[in-house]
Amino acid sequence: MVIFKLKQDLQRYLQNQSSSGRMTGFVPTMGALHRGHQSLIEKAKSDGLLVVCSIFVNPTQFNDPSDYEAYPVSSEKDIALLIESGCDVVFMPTVEEMYPNGFHNGFSLEFGYLDSILEGAKRPGHFKGVGQIVSRLLELVKPQFLYLGQKDYQQCMVIRELLKQSGKQDKIQLVICPTVREADGLAKSSRNIRLTEPQRALAGTIYQCLVSIQTKQRGGDFKIVQKECMELLEKKGFEPEYVALADASNLNLLENFQPENQMVALIAAKIGDVRLIDNLILQPLN
Ligand code: PAJ
Repeated sequence: MVIFKLKQDLQRYLQNQSSSGRMTGFVPTMGALHRGHQSLIEKAKSDGLLVVCSIFVNPTQFNDPSDYEAYPVSSEKDIALLIESGCDVVFMPTVEEMYPNGFHNGFSLEFGYLDSILEGAKRPGHFKGVGQIVSRLLELVKPQFLYLGQKDYQQCMVIRELLKQSGKQDKIQLVICPTVREADGLAKSSRNIRLTEPQRALAGTIYQCLVSIQTKQRGGDFKIVQKECMELLEKKGFEPEYVALADASNLNLLENFQPENQMVALIAAKIGDVRLIDNLILQPLN
């Protein structure tokens, strides 16, 4: 595996590789890697691609500066995990390397409705920051395949929109990989290591709520299930931000179950000062 810190070096290396006809699969990350990230690398590898991973804690997507400060960094462990997963190239730039002219230059992406709901509403500016860094990274890496985790469902939709807006949807194929979970259902996340032991013991409640939404879809009333989930989360000491139901194809929020459409349930909740998000695509009940 080769490691690059400079854009120029990465680009030179990738130009040589692409001239040999090898296609590239790109996995953007913010590091503090875990099995969820690893599953994306392994998928890209098993698809027979040159696997490029980036590790960059992108300041412009943190609406809360203390979240940015507290974001875990574990570069040596990350490099070991990437080697083990079969990654070919890792790009680990500095903030100055990615933003040589400050944070506010360049065109600004507008995601409209997608940026006005759920994570977009709770974290103003977050998706603009994600769009800004992902478009810069795509310009550098020029992959044919882009691997993202379903764990960040809304982010996948935003990046799909970004590809559309930048005319790249035919050049880059989006591969959305399933969420990797702990034994109790908690979605793997870099933020999980910030949970205290008692908080960690309760954190599986979010997944339990998602499963209960799935179970109660038939003949159910979403508003009632939503209220039950909010109350359960509160009882367990969470500060729930939303328990939502949406059309899985466009994230249009739904007031009630619509069994004729594919639906996704989404939850965001804080426990202590750790904010967790998760979602579940509802499987139709037999
Ligand atoms: P990060 O949170 O590091 O996640 C990198 C990728 O790993 C994302 O596509 C995310 O959805 C995926 N991922 C995280 N946890 C996962 C899990 N439990 N199972 C499967 N996939 C998982 O998302 C970002 O970084 C940033 O916003 C980024 C896109 C890199 C832009 O800065």
